[in-house]
Amino acid sequence: MSSTDLDKSVVETAYARWAPIYDAVCGPVMVKGRRAAAAAARAIGGKILEVGVGTGLSFDDYDSSTEITGIDMSAPMLEKARAKMASGKYPFVKAVHQMDAHHMTFGDATFDCVVAQFVITLVANPEQVLSECHRVVKPGGRIILVNHLYSEVGVAAAVERWAAQKTRALGLRPEFPFARLQAWAQSNAGTTLVERRKVAPFGIYTLVCFERTVSSQAA
Ligand SMILES: C[S@@+](CC[C@H](N)C(=O)[O-])C[C@H]1O[C@@H](n2cnc3c(N)ncnc32)[C@H](O)[C@@H]1O
Repeated sequence: MSSTDLDKSVVETAYARWAPIYDAVCGPVMVKGRRAAAAAARAIGGKILEVGVGTGLSFDDYDSSTEITGIDMSAPMLEKARAKMASGKYPFVKAVHQMDAHHMTFGDATFDCVVAQFVITLVANPEQVLSECHRVVKPGGRIILVNHLYSEVGVAAAVERWAAQKTRALGLRPEFPFARLQAWAQSNAGTTLVERRKVAPFGIYTLVCFERTVSSQAA
């Protein structure tokens, strides 16, 4: 864990506040990133785990070719997701559970694909969460992340570093480098980076996809 990682209690407090307004504020701005991640997951199909499923905004991006399970540690965010499930529009959403992504209760190799949309930069220990994602995905399965990732150089990097100090209490973190995800993959036997691409139209978000190598055991 680095000194810039967000504290779990800060995130819980922040998302309890976000829950009532989250869909209105974060629905439209992040829609392209969500759609890109869900499309990549649908291409794999089968059992999909949405880590940090939040209010279930991504449910619209899946269909009955998949079976969705969601987890989130915020009860108020999950309440919104359960209300969407109760509408009957999303029969392919099997369940959502209140669960910390650092300590998932699923067995090894349970899912065909694990998706984390706008989550990995917020968790208290991103490497531990990535290793949990790796453990619960089947060999040959994929971990798909979408996020704003730190620009690393130039004016944007300076602005992101400045904004980071102001936005922590909101449960936001604009300064998270791709290099950290890459370092995790390199140190985690049985993980291959298969894709890293900017999401259209403005390239604000990056989609990153790792594959759990077929021969690998749980990390
Ligand atoms: C920015 S929201 C993204 C929600 C949803 N994925 C979306 O695209 O709208 C981040 C979510 O991650 C959840 N979260 C943060 N840390 C978590 C953890 N350790 N375990 C599970 N969920 C977590 C928060 O409660 C919040 O609902």
